[in-house]
Amino acid sequence: MTVSIKTDTDIAGMRIAGRLASEVLDYITPFVQPGVTTGELDRLCHDYMVNVQGTIPAPLNYAPSGHTPYPKSICTSVNNQVCHGVPGDKVLKSGDIVNLDITVIKEGWHGDTSRMFAVGEASIQAKRLMQVTYEAMWVGIARVKPGARLGDIGHAIQHFAENQGYSVVREFCGHGIGRKFHEDPQVLHYGKPGTGLVLEAGMIFTIEPMINAGRRDIRQMPDGWTIVTKDRSLSAQWEHTVLVTADGFEVLTVSAGSPAMPDRVRQAA
Ligand code: MF3
Ligand code: CO
Ligand code: CO
Repeated sequence: MTVSIKTDTDIAGMRIAGRLASEVLDYITPFVQPGVTTGELDRLCHDYMVNVQGTIPAPLNYAPSGHTPYPKSICTSVNNQVCHGVPGDKVLKSGDIVNLDITVIKEGWHGDTSRMFAVGEASIQAKRLMQVTYEAMWVGIARVKPGARLGDIGHAIQHFAENQGYSVVREFCGHGIGRKFHEDPQVLHYGKPGTGLVLEAGMIFTIEPMINAGRRDIRQMPDGWTIVTKDRSLSAQWEHTVLVTADGFEVLTVSAGSPAMPDRVRQAA
């Protein structure tokens, strides 16, 4: 495993890519309404990235080994879809929850971030799952500093989510990111404290927990991409791209519309 350490110049490029990815989410937010299709959200984001930002949508034609090329520019994962939902004709209706996952490339650097959205009015249960998953991501981010270990991050997320009665998806993880979409290390959202890679300033990786309301088991749909919960329970995910700094962390995927750090995490920090 080779984990790259980014230089100050690299970090400057990653800050720009991160902000642009987050700005795509800001842009699309008002369009996430009952009646819109996931395919329309994809087209709007695609056009904004290409024509307004001058960024490249990293998912489009992305083909990791064992996969057919991804056919769209963003991922739209609705309700029991865990991740990598492929946009299409699905019409969003009031009460749905949806994750929009955006990865842009700018000057060769990748920014990767996702948020949850409630379409119209979501149930109390759905809102709680989205909120707890947001806090779970931040509980992990708050552990990031030189000398901490990846197992500390995974454990913090798992402990927090399971304490709320939820389960953590194991098959997908956060990842190093830079000139490549997915680099070393793998950032698991479960684990044991004091184990795994020791973090160093200049590392950049994503933290992107997928949390299920029911059991953690998943399966892949016949489209070869969309992942759903086996028990059809609701699933939520949030994602940030994070830099290890000399004394802690810097979240790179921030923009005017980024939701605030949760109070519980701010108080602990
Ligand atoms: N953005 C996803 C991640 O957070 C990866 C999507 S791969 C795709 O790592 F091909 F489905 F777009
Ligand atoms: Co990612
Ligand atoms: Co992503």
